[in-house]
Amino acid sequence: MHTTTWMGVQIRKNPLDAWVCQELLHRVRPDVVIEIGSYVGGSTLYFANLLDLLGHGEVISIDVSRAGYGVDHPRVVEVTGSSGDSAVIDEVARRCSGRRTFVIHDGDHRRDAVLGDLRAYGGLVSVGSYFVVEDGIVDLYPVGSALHPAKIADGPLRAVEAFLAEDDRFEIDGHCERYGLTWNPAGFLRRVK
Ligand SMILES: C[S@@+](CC[C@H](N)C(=O)[O-])C[C@H]1O[C@@H](n2cnc3c(N)ncnc32)[C@H](O)[C@@H]1O
Repeated sequence: MHTTTWMGVQIRKNPLDAWVCQELLHRVRPDVVIEIGSYVGGSTLYFANLLDLLGHGEVISIDVSRAGYGVDHPRVVEVTGSSGDSAVIDEVARRCSGRRTFVIHDGDHRRDAVLGDLRAYGGLVSVGSYFVVEDGIVDLYPVGSALHPAKIADGPLRAVEAFLAEDDRFEIDGHCERYGLTWNPAGFLRRVK
């Protein structure tokens, strides 16, 4: 994973999931992609380059840290701070007002943090668009194993389960998992109402 790159910049994504995101962005044609968790920026640049190809849209990159982040692209707006911080939520909501919005979450992977972000940003997702929750795969492996760090005792998949139990605006789009190898099981959430 740590040697995967997009245009020379490290990207922490399963390439099949990245491909599915390309399909979704082409279908949705969002005005805004909210990326929660950018790290060094390979995924941010990937989304910005896809929007270049579509000829439309911007990426709002939210991250608590810009250490190591090195992307400079005219479609990218940086919002630096925790995604759970009310000032960050307010600023992002203001930027997305009235705009077709797509969200991808790859920030703090602990259940309660992901659930908080689903609640805070879910309402910004346009009907027909998506909230992608990354890395729920950790919850399918034993806690403390190489694929499930102990610091994430309950992770993104547990957050998705809790969120879907309380919010009927979203449905899992199983078609996005058709390649059979995804790090985002039950993580491609389509807003249906
Ligand atoms: C797995 S990395 C993101 C990888 C990137 N999306 C990619 O595909 O290359 C997780 C990032 O989330 C950020 N992060 C962790 N907690 C966060 C929070 N509460 N709010 C915003 N960003 C957070 C970290 O600083 C880190 O850069």
